Amino acid sequence: MEDLKKYVVAASGKMRQPAFDILNEQVTLLAWQQGGRVPAEQFDSWLAQADALYSAGNIKIDAALLAKAPSLKVIAQASVGYDNIDIAACTARGIRVGNTPGVLNDAVADLAYGLIIDCARNIVRGHEHVKSGLWGQRRGMGFGTDLAGKTLGIAGMGGIGKEIAVRAQASKMKVIYHNRHRRTDEKQLGVSYASWEDLLAQSDFVVAAVTLNPSTKGMFNEQAFAMMKPTASFINVARGAVVDTKALYQALKEGQIAHAALDVTDPEPLPGDHELLTLPNITVTSHIASSTTETRDAMAVLTAENILAGLRGERLPAQINEIKG
Ligand code: DGY
Repeated sequence: MEDLKKYVVAASGKMRQPAFDILNEQVTLLAWQQGGRVPAEQFDSWLAQADALYSAGNIKIDAALLAKAPSLKVIAQASVGYDNIDIAACTARGIRVGNTPGVLNDAVADLAYGLIIDCARNIVRGHEHVKSGLWGQRRGMGFGTDLAGKTLGIAGMGGIGKEIAVRAQASKMKVIYHNRHRRTDEKQLGVSYASWEDLLAQSDFVVAAVTLNPSTKGMFNEQAFAMMKPTASFINVARGAVVDTKALYQALKEGQIAHAALDVTDPEPLPGDHELLTLPNITVTSHIASSTTETRDAMAVLTAENILAGLRGERLPAQINEIKG
């Protein structure tokens, strides 16, 4: 086996221990384990020597960063989303780029399901109600709604969307989906395809599970919310920028839709005094969908495996771009 110690791997943020252990044993590692971002000057000096980049902390990876890293062969990002990376610029430089699909599907789907249930059953609002000493006074809380018999519309039926469908079906929901490409396994999954307009009009709960790209940016806009039922809930576990935040605020405020539950927001982090948080019909969590110990460890290990494969000149276990030669 090739000795990879001659290669330098720079990390842009703290690595989980399993990834640190794998890489530290096999390569020359420049890691920042005290949390937060590596100071800019230090990071630049690391990039100047780096054969590989372990990308953590959602840093912008563009032509300007690549210019600082003349020896870079592989970039492995410790997340499934990669909208922070200029893939075309990496491909032009012959740099393989990897991410972490699959290993986080269950964790993200669990959180999405939790947010669906929160919209239906007022879990967070119930907690706030009790905390404010109002238990016993029904006024202000109202009733929730059953999931059984309701329609869940999933926008973006990839690995995560599929797992959300399984959970919703356990609650006896009907599942419809909209995707760029219609799936061939609809029957096995027990889901049916809907046009974008039908998905919005027919769903009682709409979940965004799409990748952020130019065609999905801002797809949940004023027109989209206007097409949804006034009793519907909107859940986002994709990326904040697939939503026009102002339009969502207006839709919730004016009762165009009933509830929203967001794990991702635009901007992110969402300031504590943001207008969205003044609304009574929203729950926001802090981009925690993949944040379980097991899942984050699995994502870190896959990131390390992507790096090792790239240093050996092999295709990455989870490679995003195509490199010729
Ligand atoms: C991802 O992997 O893209 C999730 O959003 C967690 O960061």
